[in-house]
Amino acid sequence: MQTLTVEVDAAGIALVTFDDPTKPMNVVSPQWMDEFIAAIEQIATDPRIVGAILTSSKPAFMAGADLKYILGLAGGKISSAEAYKFSQKPSVAMHRRLETCGKPFVAAINGLALGGGYELALACHYRVIVDDAKAVVGLPEVTVGLLPGSGGTQRLPRMIGVEQSLAVLLEGKKVAPAEALKLCMVDAVVPATALLDTARQWLLKSPDPVRAWDKKSYRGGGGLLNPAIVQVMTFQPAIIAARTQYNYPAPIAILDCIFEGTLLPFDKALKVESKYFAHLLCGSVARNLIRTTFVNKGEAMKLARRPQGVPKSAVKTLGVLGAGMMGSGVAHVAAAAGIAVVLLDSSAELAEKGKAATVKLLAKAVERGQKTRAAADEILARIRTTADYADLSSCDLVVEAVFEDPAVKAGVTDKAEAAMPQGGIFASNTSTLPITGLAKASSRPTQFIGLHFFSPVERMPLVEVIVGADTSKATLAKSLDFVAQLKMTPILVNDSRGFYTSRVFQTFIHEGMRMLEDGVAPALIENAAKFAGFPVGPLALVDEVTVELPWKITGETAAALGAQFVKPCAYDVMRRMVEELQRPGKQYGKGFYDYPEGGVKRLWSGLSQAFPVAAAQPSVDEIKKRFLYIQALETARCLEEGVLTHPADGDVGSLLAWGFPSWTGGTLSLIDSVGVGAFVADCTRMASLYGARFSPSAWLAGRAERGDAFY
Ligand code: NAI
Repeated sequence: MQTLTVEVDAAGIALVTFDDPTKPMNVVSPQWMDEFIAAIEQIATDPRIVGAILTSSKPAFMAGADLKYILGLAGGKISSAEAYKFSQKPSVAMHRRLETCGKPFVAAINGLALGGGYELALACHYRVIVDDAKAVVGLPEVTVGLLPGSGGTQRLPRMIGVEQSLAVLLEGKKVAPAEALKLCMVDAVVPATALLDTARQWLLKSPDPVRAWDKKSYRGGGGLLNPAIVQVMTFQPAIIAARTQYNYPAPIAILDCIFEGTLLPFDKALKVESKYFAHLLCGSVARNLIRTTFVNKGEAMKLARRPQGVPKSAVKTLGVLGAGMMGSGVAHVAAAAGIAVVLLDSSAELAEKGKAATVKLLAKAVERGQKTRAAADEILARIRTTADYADLSSCDLVVEAVFEDPAVKAGVTDKAEAAMPQGGIFASNTSTLPITGLAKASSRPTQFIGLHFFSPVERMPLVEVIVGADTSKATLAKSLDFVAQLKMTPILVNDSRGFYTSRVFQTFIHEGMRMLEDGVAPALIENAAKFAGFPVGPLALVDEVTVELPWKITGETAAALGAQFVKPCAYDVMRRMVEELQRPGKQYGKGFYDYPEGGVKRLWSGLSQAFPVAAAQPSVDEIKKRFLYIQALETARCLEEGVLTHPADGDVGSLLAWGFPSWTGGTLSLIDSVGVGAFVADCTRMASLYGARFSPSAWLAGRAERGDAFY
């Protein structure tokens, strides 16, 4: 089946329409490239054809590269020479040929044109776009660790200026038509009905098919001789380094392309671009970003782990028990997704107070122009507050977010189930209590499940779906359908203490606190974590939630596990901070940091007395490794124990739940990037230095011996 058609009208104008019947959007696939190269040759060589219009019969013009296909090549699967050739094909045989064939081409951009789709538009001699806010243009390659490798880093700076192009290229900004016109990223914005005619009229004026940079008189490359631009280019590497800590090679490669390329003749510049593209494609960061943030996250959102054979369902009315921080957030996102919500607390006033949080958030959204007043009112009208369990009679699903206390949870489970329909599902938003234990309070444990949302719910798109010992397949399927209704990303986890996310995240903060006891300088601990790519250092993080919280969880775990309890590595640091030093955290004005009133927080000066700093300090790289590897090891244990059933859940969850650095691709992709063998060897070395928690299990050591990667 063809991915495009070519029709030539009486005036000699060829209309090339992209329409790949096998895909929801047109993408730069190998088949399409071959067909398009043939179409360009036809247009270039047929003397009857005077010019061509490129458009699409799908809602989008072109979405760009087929990232699933790119993933098959990324991260060393092909040599850098092959990667260079891969980039040169669309860059030279397609775009450059089209641009220099002597016939004018117009991109009639009827919808979104991103990445390779917009690069194609840039190669055309004129760009007209439909006046529709959804028809965004841009070059988002940087967000998946790549750069636009089909001329994008060369044409855009030459067309709109180096400085203007930086935001588009370095941030991967998607630009709506009106702004695109202002930035000269397109030449005209017209109503949909006038799109093809505008393109035609332009071609009928016999436009010059030679681009500015292909004319002898061209002096544009000298943009870099402009002192203002030289200044921008001088500071950009430092700005990027501060933002990315050198963990992401793509933005630096983009700068190099602009810097080197804009000084060169165009054909040479395209070679430079392909060289940098090949370097990125062969590295691990692009592969990790594409696999986790695009492919695996996309599959999770399409409910890859949903059991087969259960009819698709939708929640019409949701019950939420507990209108505190989490309950009000869940009510908010559900109402925003069009679901009617009954929000229950122990008194009508408390329930109303929970709804008030949503009122406030929506008012802000209206004020910022992100929502209309009418849309906000519609959301609020869907949330009914109550203290009466009888109001749960129509709820297909109830999410409980009351206090983290098994007895309180058991009480509300009992009352809710008495009021809910027989087939209704009861979900707990507990962050720590095993689901199988909570389900003991349920009269229908097969319909009991964990739906662990994250705070703040309206900004955290992940839900950890926890299957208890008795949870049925139908309950799991319906719960996943509910997460999809909320347009959130689910990961599937089997029941365990701390489930997956809390269990692994805990190893990060424990490791950070433990380092104090090992004599590591506090500033080194905090900064090394940030250099590794964590948003916040572990000590600052613990201060936010208070040391009391992990200390309390430690106490509860000890009580629950009895003789099997193993003290966490930060046991003494937590005990001393809470009991001895009485510095429980930010909300008390004192923790690992001091919080001077009206001033900026700073590490507590007494910290080095309480935990003496060793004379010899470890390297930054060693500290980074401790943070990254301890979490990767714990995730591997989750997979070994069956808490996780698929590496993708571990990877996606780690990025979305607690901001594990995305350049790694997630906790398990990190191991694959290092190599299982090298990872196990390094962990064994660290176990001898820091303790048995770094010892790889026999299962992981076995994988290392067999060279058995996770992907
Ligand atoms: P919260 O203290 O803000 O809210 C709890 C709400 O439950 C309060 O409004 C309270 O009045 C209500 N409540 C207590 N007993 C009740 C009863 N018998 N009947 C009806 N309502 C009752 O607590 P938060 O932070 O919202 O946490 C709720 C649950 O979510 C806990 O299980 C917690 O572990 C879990 N969770 C909390 C996260 C967080 O970041 N705070 C993240 C993920 C889960």
